[in-house]
Amino acid sequence: MIDDKATEIQSIGSQKNPYEHNGDVFENPLFTPNRVTNKKFYIESYGCAMNFADSEVVASILQESGYGATKHFEEADLILVNTCSIREKAELTIRKRLTEFRKAKESKSGRLVGVLGCMAERLKSQLLEEEKLVDLVVGPDAYRSLPALILEAETGQKAVNVLLSRDETYADISPIRLDSNGVSAFVSIMRGCNNMCSFCVVPFTRGRERSRDAHSIVAEAQDLFNKGYKEITLLGQNVDSYYWIDEENNSTITFALLLEKIALISPSLRVRFSTSHPKDITDEVLHTIAKYENICNYIHLPVQSGNNRILQLMNRTYTREWYMAKIDRIREIIPDCGISADIIAGFCSETEEEHQETIDIMQYSKYDYGYMYFYSERPGTLAARRYEDDIPEEIKKRRLAEIVEVQYQLSLQSNKNDVGKTFKILVDGESKKDINFWKGRNDQNKVAVFAKENFPIKKGDYVQVKINACTKGTLLGEYVKD
Ligand code: SAH
Ligand code: SF4
Ligand code: F3S
Repeated sequence: MIDDKATEIQSIGSQKNPYEHNGDVFENPLFTPNRVTNKKFYIESYGCAMNFADSEVVASILQESGYGATKHFEEADLILVNTCSIREKAELTIRKRLTEFRKAKESKSGRLVGVLGCMAERLKSQLLEEEKLVDLVVGPDAYRSLPALILEAETGQKAVNVLLSRDETYADISPIRLDSNGVSAFVSIMRGCNNMCSFCVVPFTRGRERSRDAHSIVAEAQDLFNKGYKEITLLGQNVDSYYWIDEENNSTITFALLLEKIALISPSLRVRFSTSHPKDITDEVLHTIAKYENICNYIHLPVQSGNNRILQLMNRTYTREWYMAKIDRIREIIPDCGISADIIAGFCSETEEEHQETIDIMQYSKYDYGYMYFYSERPGTLAARRYEDDIPEEIKKRRLAEIVEVQYQLSLQSNKNDVGKTFKILVDGESKKDINFWKGRNDQNKVAVFAKENFPIKKGDYVQVKINACTKGTLLGEYVKD
């Protein structure tokens, strides 16, 4: 959802039409240089951070087309849903929402409803032609064609573009920060994924991996810092395979070098990143994290399973031993590093013993936090074609509950270990539960809350907080002067 104010304060895109991108000339048929029309758009995003970042690119394209943002779909001329296909449940939730928007369409003449993102890519014109749920279908690499598609849809034509690209990175589009706290922002550094994990739909919905021009990433981060942002999260499905050739300077930029460039913008700009693939994260990256105080000591390192046979069926291309060695290496180079993981319970043919090995690797890794799911077969993936989804749902759910319980204990223990310590917290807002408390995160990405009292503290400040108590999800502390 969108912060109306955010659209007023942010600068936007190219402000010229037509414009050139990678040698192609693009025309925005709705281009409105002074951006004054009374049309409004509403956008709702699902799925991963990359989808939320994409919605900010879409907002920029729409604003150049004369559309203002609204937080209330009831006011909108254009309702967009940026969708996720990662698990069946995600798609079902979104379908329900699209049905509601279908009804909302009827209450305002000329109102259009569009589906963006991974479900648009996966289902292509099905939502438009067979199910007649939406007027527009736009895949993740086709957002530049949105203005043309809106015009088509307005005249009652089928408006679909789900072409995937090998080079689109939207590098030249300045995203409009939606729903922003003014402190943290996402910056997309690459798109797509070449990994082909057998359970995963992303390579099909997002296409081939490509890295974004490093200069444009640094410029976007610098611009955010100039506007008062204090924390930037670099986003990609597999950030460690970031690779960009700087032809001007005849050099190659790896992820470690990119991290360094962003860290050097200012010591008071925190740098985070997600996601790291265990096969690709290098010592060079770990040393860069250790070298710069402002690169946060936190790594999200999805394990998926702790068993070698299952890891092989998943096509994760590392073994249990390799993964454990990575955990050791992280702890050796960055001793106080926060680590989290994604875990899938009940993948095809998983036995009880193999499930126990997942629990065992969780205990070995001592994750501070976990994102845990039961396997959901996705049509068209390697696993759907090759392996039977043969673990009954109640067993998947029971194994997931066991995994969740283990993670609960690990998170609680990890937080208990922090009681008595003092952390540098970046304040990002008020506690949702109690407005008398500030909320922020420490270097390791743990949420900390502390009483406001009458201290002269504001959002975006770094403060020292001594931890006195905890739950599994939150550290509770008190402000201490430096
Ligand atoms: N690029 C990231 C993850 C992207 S998807 C990586 O490689 O780690 C986020 C998480 O969703 C995955 O890590 C996985 O744990 C989960 N996931 C993906 N496909 C799934 C499926 N078919 N069923 C259940 N969980 C799935
Ligand atoms: Fe999916 Fe694997 Fe790529 Fe992650 S690395 S997006 S899990 S295919
Ligand atoms: Fe979902 Fe697509 Fe992200 S499937 S997790 S929105 S890349």
